Amino acid sequence: MFESLELLPPDAIIGLITECRNDPRDPKVDLGIGVYRNAAGETPVLDVVKRAEQRLIDTQASKAYIGSAGPADFNEAMRDLTFAGTVANDRVAMLQTPGGSGSLRVAAGVILRAREDTTVWVSSPTWANHVPLLGGAGLNLKPYAYYDETTKALDLDGMLDSLRGIPKGDIVLLHTCCHNPTGIDPDEAQWRAIADVIVERELLPFVDIAYQGFATDLDADAFLIRELAGRVPEMLVANSCSKNFGLYRDRVGALFVVTADSNARDVVQSQANNVVRTIYSMPPDHGAAVVAMILDDDKLRADWIEELTEMRERLCEMRQLLHDALREEAPDHDFSHLVRAKGMFCFLGVSPEQVSRLKKEHSVYMVDSSRINIAGITADNVGHIARSVAAVL
Ligand SMILES: Cc1ncc(COP(=O)(O)O)c(C=O)c1O
Repeated sequence: MFESLELLPPDAIIGLITECRNDPRDPKVDLGIGVYRNAAGETPVLDVVKRAEQRLIDTQASKAYIGSAGPADFNEAMRDLTFAGTVANDRVAMLQTPGGSGSLRVAAGVILRAREDTTVWVSSPTWANHVPLLGGAGLNLKPYAYYDETTKALDLDGMLDSLRGIPKGDIVLLHTCCHNPTGIDPDEAQWRAIADVIVERELLPFVDIAYQGFATDLDADAFLIRELAGRVPEMLVANSCSKNFGLYRDRVGALFVVTADSNARDVVQSQANNVVRTIYSMPPDHGAAVVAMILDDDKLRADWIEELTEMRERLCEMRQLLHDALREEAPDHDFSHLVRAKGMFCFLGVSPEQVSRLKKEHSVYMVDSSRINIAGITADNVGHIARSVAAVL
């Protein structure tokens, strides 16, 4: 049977990580990876997570199934972290999911059950996995304007024009902060203008929040969601705890579906639970139990915010460091977009040929689009990165 299958090439990012790992040259830099790294180049378990895990091991009495929607304490704590009371609780269907990806996948299942022929509009560009994940689930996807490559900034007018052209009732997928891959986010006034068009055109917002706390802070990063919550009857929100809790491999995320009223909430909740039952039946619990424990305990929560702040501040410092080093090494080129971007990712802004030369001649690895992970920069390697970039410009 399996002889009919063809061998697929390795995933671009995983292929890049392997290539970098096997490169014997020194120095070498991996700017392709999709995880946070500290100044030592490691992705450590957060201290607060270690403490919560220990408490969980000491106190957990059972590992019996919980249910397709996951634990209520996690869902409620994540709902409050996301919406901060901006929507009535009895309008929100909620599920713990295996990561943000699981959340997006369950959302796709619910959308398809509600309206099979709907289109989901995604930013151009968007996270590389949005298209295979949502498209693979069976959704129609179309792009809306977002990023202006010439100015390396948000193309607000283009975006608003695109949104105005979307048929009523279609779904718009928005990155609430730390847009992946550009790092360019609308500011609050721009989000309000975007929300105005969403309300006016009766579009259904589907918000992906995978980096809450990585751009400005936990509240500011949820601005779009809270702004929309008071203005639209329905909305989907996919949240991820992979980055802000460093729980990547434990697979922790949440899906929230805001509905018109509590009756609609009950219907959507039953359908979403049933979608889960047909895919993975129940979400993994360990990471979600850790997150619930941290969010519900004042001391652990405060310590988590401190560690989250450290990660965010390191990203800001590394952006600035790379920007300053490039200004020194390549004074004729403008890299100011690096410091305007937010979160882990942004485009360096070089061509695929230059990306290839950076890899071959200088052991500096990044994906072809020149998207870089700022967390791969350290005080030790920034000089090598800047000199290498200047050499290929
Ligand atoms: C924009 C965006 N959405 C969702 C995710 C999903 O993350 P995970 O499934 O690891 O929680 C990511 C991860 O990189 C992302 O960048």
